[in-house]
Amino acid sequence: MSGLPASLCVSDTFAGLSLPGAEILSVSALLVTNYTASVAATFRFTQPAVEVQDATFCNVTVAYTHPGQNDNIITEAWLPTDDWNGRFLAVGGGGYAAGRFSLSYENMKGAIGDGYATITTDSGLGNAQDPTPWALVSPGNVNLYNLQNFGDVSLNDQAVIGKALIKSIYGKGPEYSYWSGCSQGGRQGLSMAQRYPKAYDGISAVAPAISWNGLAASAHWPQQFMNNLGTYPYPCEIDAITAAAVEACDGLDGVVDGVIAEADACLASFDPFSLVGKVIDCNQTVDGSQVNISRAAAATVNATWHGASKVDGTPIWSGFLPGTDLTGSSTAPGQISMVVTNCTTGTCVGAPSYLTVKWVQIFLAKDPNFDIVNLTHADYVRLVHAGKQQYESFLGTNDPDLSDFRDAGGKMITYHGLADNVIPPGGSRKYYKEVSALMPDAPSFYRYFEAPGLGHCWGGRSGQPTALFRQLRAWVENGTAPEQTPIDVNVEDGTVHHRILCPYPEVSVFDEGCGDAAAVECWSCGKRGSENQTRS
Ligand SMILES: *[C@@H]1O[C@H](CO)[C@@H](O)[C@H](O)[C@H]1NC(C)=O
Ligand SMILES: *[C@@H]1O[C@H](CO)[C@@H](O)[C@H](O)[C@H]1NC(C)=O
Ligand SMILES: *[C@@H]1O[C@H](CO)[C@@H](O)[C@H](O)[C@H]1NC(C)=O
Ligand SMILES: *[C@@H]1O[C@H](CO)[C@@H](O)[C@H](O)[C@H]1NC(C)=O
Ligand SMILES: *[C@@H]1O[C@H](CO)[C@@H](O)[C@H](O)[C@H]1NC(C)=O
Ligand SMILES: *[C@@H]1O[C@H](CO)[C@@H](O)[C@H](O)[C@H]1NC(C)=O
Ligand SMILES: *[C@@H]1O[C@H](CO)[C@@H](O)[C@H](O)[C@H]1NC(C)=O
Ligand SMILES: *[C@@H]1O[C@H](CO)[C@@H](O)[C@H](O)[C@H]1NC(C)=O
Repeated sequence: MSGLPASLCVSDTFAGLSLPGAEILSVSALLVTNYTASVAATFRFTQPAVEVQDATFCNVTVAYTHPGQNDNIITEAWLPTDDWNGRFLAVGGGGYAAGRFSLSYENMKGAIGDGYATITTDSGLGNAQDPTPWALVSPGNVNLYNLQNFGDVSLNDQAVIGKALIKSIYGKGPEYSYWSGCSQGGRQGLSMAQRYPKAYDGISAVAPAISWNGLAASAHWPQQFMNNLGTYPYPCEIDAITAAAVEACDGLDGVVDGVIAEADACLASFDPFSLVGKVIDCNQTVDGSQVNISRAAAATVNATWHGASKVDGTPIWSGFLPGTDLTGSSTAPGQISMVVTNCTTGTCVGAPSYLTVKWVQIFLAKDPNFDIVNLTHADYVRLVHAGKQQYESFLGTNDPDLSDFRDAGGKMITYHGLADNVIPPGGSRKYYKEVSALMPDAPSFYRYFEAPGLGHCWGGRSGQPTALFRQLRAWVENGTAPEQTPIDVNVEDGTVHHRILCPYPEVSVFDEGCGDAAAVECWSCGKRGSENQTRS
């Protein structure tokens, strides 16, 4: 569409803005011109890299409150004044940030590059990764209005405000509305599908932090386990066990490439204790010499792979899968890992991630100074259970009833890396199975792709399925569902293989007769290897 006059980018244009249940505090509009940015595919999850050149957009910031709730929420919309593509693309947050942080802005830059009107919200929480400032109203008391805004309420506000701003400046609403997010942003996307099913026509909800209580229980579990053990292995021991698992399980799918595709079969067949006593080179010791892989290291890896459990061994939640970078030694920058230990002083100590430490201290124990190191297994299980009782309706985001979303014509896609180092992929699979069990027509509106070798949102040996958002659009706008999606895998020998991901429960299967594992035409969607009786 042709350019809008710059004179429209003033707060008066949006003077009629109203939001049910809220009081608008301020609206500011600033024209941004000659905007140039390089956006990597990494931070767009399901979209390719884009170069933004000399873009012009109206930057509209809206502050509002839900009267009586003492919140102050800021949304920031970027509305292209040249070449708007007629569509709305709202973006999500990550970690404890609901939005308005670095990754949200990368996604908004990408959206601008592709012509979308886009919006982010801080949910009234600021943009810090430390939730301490907003999580407790006072020691012992969680700020439930903030948690409610984090969970879902402000996310619907974001959609309503975005659409209203679009209507005000362009004189008409968006033709189609989309959501894109990973991790916290993935959870937010699913929250919208479950609770506000008409807000978005298409939702890309990647590696979603759903079933938060369960995933946090398993994400913190390795540190809890080491604390209870009173022993903290060297990262090199953990890495050596991971490498041995890759070596042993790599070929289970018929292709030796450095990637475990059959991670469940690996979990069932590979014994981490088989490595105990193996001597490895390890420069993390004080004298940089060798280490004898300890039983504690094997037990920690075993516990991490199986996930949190009760004192009697009953599982609480699924764990990180074999092949996952547990220590962060090979993970892409900007990522966190859950089995980190710090051995710089000569004695290793646990180095848990802020993500899980804050969850346990602030939300479960409601005490910023809570001692996590001496927490017993039994008390940990009690805290986790109490967390589920208190927070499931805020952050569980695992209601399988998507019938209203389906009936509204919504379409949704999720991918989850099988080497995800932050959120165990089992939660996405469990959710998809629950949706499918409740609604056998689930594939007509929701498809889930598992990505072997892919870390959290990005990283690992697998690239991201960057065509998937375009496919989501084709599904929404043209009715063409994604039957498969292309992916690049960086295999062990340094070459790049072109392959596909398939909608769960299918997996990509290599045709040995075709011969070339690097060639996309030698892969097709089919049954998981362990279920495929005809495989040699
Ligand atoms: C912005 O872009 C316009 C059109 O390309 C150009 O004429 C102008 O000089 C640019 N302004 C700046 C500050 O670069
Ligand atoms: C948009 O406006 C907000 C509020 O003034 C500001 O914080 C932000 O940096 C602006 N963004 C851009 C890209 O200009
Ligand atoms: C490794 O440790 C085990 C158990 O302590 C011990 O039996 C074994 O001899 C050690 N191996 C080496 C090579 O030090
Ligand atoms: C330690 O060893 C690892 C793996 O062998 C290597 O990548 C790293 O560079 C080494 N670090 C130092 C400080 O030598
Ligand atoms: C490995 O973990 C599983 C699940 O928690 C547990 O049942 C099993 O006993 C562990 N294996 C060993 C040898 O500790
Ligand atoms: C490891 O511990 C040392 C010594 O206590 C500390 O200075 C350093 O910041 C720690 N590093 C990490 C990554 O936690
Ligand atoms: C945890 O236990 C250790 C060992 O008993 C003790 O030295 C330490 O002070 C305890 N930590 C706290 C915060 O109480
Ligand atoms: C939908 O189909 C039309 C006609 O084939 C095509 O031009 C358009 O690009 C498609 N849109 C999407 C989002 O795939």
